[in-house]
Amino acid sequence: MAASLHGRSLLSMRDLSREEIHAILDLAAAQKRDLAALRRSAPFCGRTLAMIFQKPSLRTRVSFETGMTLMGGHAIYLSPADIKLGERESTEDIALVLSRYADIIMARVFGHSIVADLARHATVPVINGLSDFEHPCQILADLLTVRERKGKLEGLCGAYIGDGNNVANSLLFGAARVGMNFTVASPPGFEPTAPVVAEARKMAAATGAKIQVVNNPADAARGADMLYTDVWASMGQESEAAARREKFRGFQIDMPLLKLARPDALVLHCLPAHYGEEIAYDVTRSPNSAIFDQAENRMHAQNALMTLIAGDSHRKEGKDPR
Ligand code: CP
Ligand code: NVA
Repeated sequence: MAASLHGRSLLSMRDLSREEIHAILDLAAAQKRDLAALRRSAPFCGRTLAMIFQKPSLRTRVSFETGMTLMGGHAIYLSPADIKLGERESTEDIALVLSRYADIIMARVFGHSIVADLARHATVPVINGLSDFEHPCQILADLLTVRERKGKLEGLCGAYIGDGNNVANSLLFGAARVGMNFTVASPPGFEPTAPVVAEARKMAAATGAKIQVVNNPADAARGADMLYTDVWASMGQESEAAARREKFRGFQIDMPLLKLARPDALVLHCLPAHYGEEIAYDVTRSPNSAIFDQAENRMHAQNALMTLIAGDSHRKEGKDPR
């Protein structure tokens, strides 16, 4: 099953089957258990990851870069100013040129169509490191974290409190795929879109997961095994931050909300956090919180993903001009 990931791109959680998700998590757990062996085996020796960033990052940049170092490879950071995607050069040409140098391309972009265009034109796998529509690497790390703590994913009840954004979309698709019941609580007008919810429900039909959208955080949190939140204003929405602060008031994971969940409920946040807005600081430092395991797991999940999509020499060679 893992062989089916060979040479593939990851743009969306919808791209992965349930078996493929578990194959990535299994390998991530094994590699995490023996980092010394991973370092010794250096599966990416002599190989390069090109990382395109249109937006800022701490975790995505550092976890991909340290992961490649650990696995014997090299990662190149390309800042927004370096390549001016779509401005200095077309997305198509960037994809074709980078494919001649790098073994994998990772991109953090504004519009999801940009990462889709990169994947369409590249001859090496492309990984979505966050777009305005999805954040699949984050959700692989989240599922790894939940599975580590709970020993399973299927049948659990997850709740997401806040904006129906890229992280919420990927969580809905990921939960539906692995059979985790999932409820999103958003203020009216900020719910995940109807097509996203419909697609998640379609995916959930195969696993029996229940997908719900509500407007009251308490309705989502009650009895949950996992509470998740993300910033009220995502990167690129800075001008809306003040207005959103009004609209999202009450959509916070705080101690009273945590008390509605199961006593052993996990608290997750993709970070960066705005303490006092979407989450209370004390909740993130409580025994329920796994937010820093979650951040660490970005690297393990991505190492496994990269190993499975490009672990052996699979690179499609460029055209021989002779
Ligand atoms: N969670 C996450 O993607 O963090 P960064 O924006 O810092 O990469
Ligand atoms: N929704 C957030 C996630 C940051 C990791 C954003 O897109 O800015």
